[in-house]
Amino acid sequence: MSLQFALELARSAGEIIKEGYFKQKVISQKCSIADLVTETDTKVENFVQKKISEQFPTHEFIGEESVSNGAKISFTDSPTWIIDPVDGTSNFVHRFPFCCISIAYAEKKKVALAVVYNPILDEMYHAELGKGAFLNGAKLSVSDAQNLSSSILCSEWGSQRDATMDTKVRNMHKAVLASRGIRSIGSAALSCCMVARGSVESYFEYGIHCWDVAAGELIVREAGGVSASPDGSPFDLMSRSVLVSCCRQVLDETSACIERIPFDRE
Ligand code: IPD
Repeated sequence: MSLQFALELARSAGEIIKEGYFKQKVISQKCSIADLVTETDTKVENFVQKKISEQFPTHEFIGEESVSNGAKISFTDSPTWIIDPVDGTSNFVHRFPFCCISIAYAEKKKVALAVVYNPILDEMYHAELGKGAFLNGAKLSVSDAQNLSSSILCSEWGSQRDATMDTKVRNMHKAVLASRGIRSIGSAALSCCMVARGSVESYFEYGIHCWDVAAGELIVREAGGVSASPDGSPFDLMSRSVLVSCCRQVLDETSACIERIPFDRE
């Protein structure tokens, strides 16, 4: 698969995001006051889908905005692109400079190529399976911290505003007591990239979708990190949950702080 194609696609999509970022926005609410979509999300998704289907007419496409229109996710062994056109839409709306396009390419249900681009800070992350992870061309390595007590974590409140929030509060409480602190930067893809670049040691969240973390999870592993479900079992892209860490010990200690939140699979 062409890394060059994915990098150019991300850069062009980033131009659309940057153009919308400084303008007055048309905002709609999806399932809660924290679940937003703007005309830029739709514009970027349509642009990316068109480019992919011109270049690879037989490939499948899973995109946040196509699926939120009610379409059921079909993830098969076929070559599949999994796209979040704007991850961190609330940040985009508020001009908090952590939003990105997230592009993952999977074959036989395994992500092989990942690109996450924050056009506001001009930070381009990429990884290919077995070839390492990079930020603007420079190789990335996770932190060498060995335990949670010398770690900073990322976690998110997510876009739900329902009963799951009580468990999220308990999880954050346990995790903050066991670590040096928790950051919420408002983008699942960029939270993974923060683990990959060694700026935080772990990131966990319940309630995410596959397009939020498909690319970021590979970028973490290619930077030398590990991934799992928050309960410590193997990572499952369709499980609506993620835990990525710099090493297994930090992952296990993070996992021990997290109470399970039931979400239906995608
Ligand atoms: C959201 C962001 C946020 C996470 C939510 C996601 P979106 O994605 O990644 O950090 O907490 O769970 O839905 O809606 O901005 O693409």
